[in-house]
Amino acid sequence: MEEKVYSMPRIGEKAPDFKAVTTQGEINFPGDYKGSWVILFSHPADFTPVCTSEFMIFANMEKQFNEANCKLVGLSVDGLYSHIAWLRTIKEKIEYKGMKNVEVTFPLIEDITMEVAKTYGMLQPGESSTKAVRAVFFIDPKGIIRTIIYYPLSLGRNFDELYRVIIGLQTADAFSVALPADWRPGDDVIVPTAGSCGVAKERMEKKDEMHCYDWFFCTKKLDKEKVLKTIIKK
Ligand code: BEZ
Repeated sequence: MEEKVYSMPRIGEKAPDFKAVTTQGEINFPGDYKGSWVILFSHPADFTPVCTSEFMIFANMEKQFNEANCKLVGLSVDGLYSHIAWLRTIKEKIEYKGMKNVEVTFPLIEDITMEVAKTYGMLQPGESSTKAVRAVFFIDPKGIIRTIIYYPLSLGRNFDELYRVIIGLQTADAFSVALPADWRPGDDVIVPTAGSCGVAKERMEKKDEMHCYDWFFCTKKLDKEKVLKTIIKK
């Protein structure tokens, strides 16, 4: 039989559809998440230390993500009963960095066939051919992949960065701006580059609400409160 060829999903493409069993029942992805942002992330294996630390932090931050209209969906190539047992252990036994009794209420996909992991390019054989790497897909309310981040097995993710990405993507969309390196709400934002010589000249001459480092690199203020009021719904 011919082997199926998988191509890695890319930014700007529709998130591949799948149906899966999870710790919260069956899901149709990304259809069930229409209208919400969703972070689909993989972890290498249940009952492993880095993954446990990550799940405790993600579960603790779930409300914060939900308030930014973002849902969380996890995946590993373990089976459902392993997932259930691991999440029960986390809740009942693990105390880590002041967190205890942590209940993971977002769905965790069982993927023993590795079909979803292969479809999303989460299996990277140079790293491991039996475990998914730490992949993070940020998918918008229309089901389009907007950002992808991969981490290896040995390095836990930075969840402040994942949250920054969700806020940043929504800010860029809502205000039609781009965001400079290390941007956080309250920092200046980048206005679209001048598209004509006339506009370039005007920008360099005019001292209005923009600050131009050069004709192609102009920023403006965007209030933190304005950003948060637009994105965060409590
Ligand atoms: C961990 O989560 O601790 C882990 C998982 C797979 C390989 C190495 C570390």
